Amino acid sequence: MAETPRADLLVLFGAAGDLARRMLLPSLYFLDFDGFLPEGFRIVGAARSEMSREAFVDLVRTDLAARSEGLDETVWTRFSARLDYVAADATNAEGLASLTPHMQGAKRPMFYLALSPSLYGRVCVALAGAGFATDESRIVLEKPIGRDLESSKTINISVGAVFDEDRIFRIDHYLGKETVQNLIALRFANTLFEPLWNNLTIDHVQITVAETEGVGDRWPYYDEYGALRDMLQNHMLQLLCLVAMEPPSDMEPDSVRNEKVKVLRSLRPFTRAEVQKDSVRGQYTAGVVGGREAAAYEKERGEASDTETFVALRADIDNWRWAGVPFFLRTGKRMPERRTQIAIQFKPVPHSIFGGPASEDLVANRLVIDLQPDEDIELLLMNKAPGITAGGLRLQSLPLSLSLLRTYEGPGARRRIAYERLLLDVISGNSTLFVRRDEVEAAWRWVDGIEDAWREAGMSHRPYAAGSWGPAGAFALIERSERAWLD
Ligand code: BG6
Repeated sequence: MAETPRADLLVLFGAAGDLARRMLLPSLYFLDFDGFLPEGFRIVGAARSEMSREAFVDLVRTDLAARSEGLDETVWTRFSARLDYVAADATNAEGLASLTPHMQGAKRPMFYLALSPSLYGRVCVALAGAGFATDESRIVLEKPIGRDLESSKTINISVGAVFDEDRIFRIDHYLGKETVQNLIALRFANTLFEPLWNNLTIDHVQITVAETEGVGDRWPYYDEYGALRDMLQNHMLQLLCLVAMEPPSDMEPDSVRNEKVKVLRSLRPFTRAEVQKDSVRGQYTAGVVGGREAAAYEKERGEASDTETFVALRADIDNWRWAGVPFFLRTGKRMPERRTQIAIQFKPVPHSIFGGPASEDLVANRLVIDLQPDEDIELLLMNKAPGITAGGLRLQSLPLSLSLLRTYEGPGARRRIAYERLLLDVISGNSTLFVRRDEVEAAWRWVDGIEDAWREAGMSHRPYAAGSWGPAGAFALIERSERAWLD
């Protein structure tokens, strides 16, 4: 991969916001801890509110000290020296004037917009107006890029008028997760799986992203988006792409992204009839999660709303490799447990040679990739139950496990924040793990089709109790094809 000169300055817009404080600044600190930040790399927090540099540094320190990893004073001394703060209105060039002194000497600045996507276009125009959007600068955008295809195009056009595509880094933090990258390694660094990775051997795929948290005070954002736009359009489709894509010829950004976009374009659009059969929208009512009472979404929202907090659907990929292999996707808030998992269910053996009780023991192989809460990859294989069993041979399904926690645990081992990898990649100018414009738009095109079909079919949400696995329809959806969710 061609070496791109590393960025030397990060301007973090939205520096006092939740994402910056919980994820981005800690990620930068850990990158510094591990010696990954370039020498002289500076970080300027920017937000509308007036705050002194000292107050900002104190805020960052308090956040870091509150984390379970604790604060290393030597690293903190180095890290805090990189920090600065400026009050700025990023939506117009005049409002950015206060940033000018901080830009002095920066050859390759990167701008991170931890802001509402509705501001992306204006901020880019303002950056250009202020003279900060140079040929060597980079821009980082958080999801969601728009709310549908049309609004995402509007954002992409305004950002693209200022920054070339290879300088735009659209973040999907799922691509920074260790196990997601490991999926690429598993598929393309082993000869074992590729010959089996198709409709001859695979029965179906399940992707589950279940969260125990509710929407809480994020409802003003969430109510506009719902589970389909908040999780499925981006994180879940990215996971689906990595499972389903053809082997790229190398890890160059465009090689990987060309393959992902082909998958997105092969997703079968929903008709009104199919959407009623093959998708379910749910919204949580009051219930109990992890032994604690949880309020209904409507209560948090303050009034009735048709926004879905759960979605399950069957996706079909119309190409040679995947014809006839359904991908069942489900995601929801206030589920009984936190679980992010991809399961590849293989077909049963074509003929069983085992008679007697062993014939009942026989289950098909399964590859389970756990992303959260634990990172693990397990291949379930049949083997003979040990010893002598009455009535003849017995079989059992046992996992071959690549437990990442166990394999890599040891002094100093810690679970990385997904943003660490991604921030480092922006610094280094490597966009392989970022989402290209045509990918975002292909994902929206498919998702818009679902929204349209829901509307045409008049499909409102079905209630489910907080702490359950979603509405009954989610079970019927998968059972209709004689399969079941892995619970
Ligand atoms: C975000 C969504 O992109 O991802 C949130 O907006 C969701 O609603 C979060 O909770 C889940 O991320 P993770 O890494 O905790 O699975």
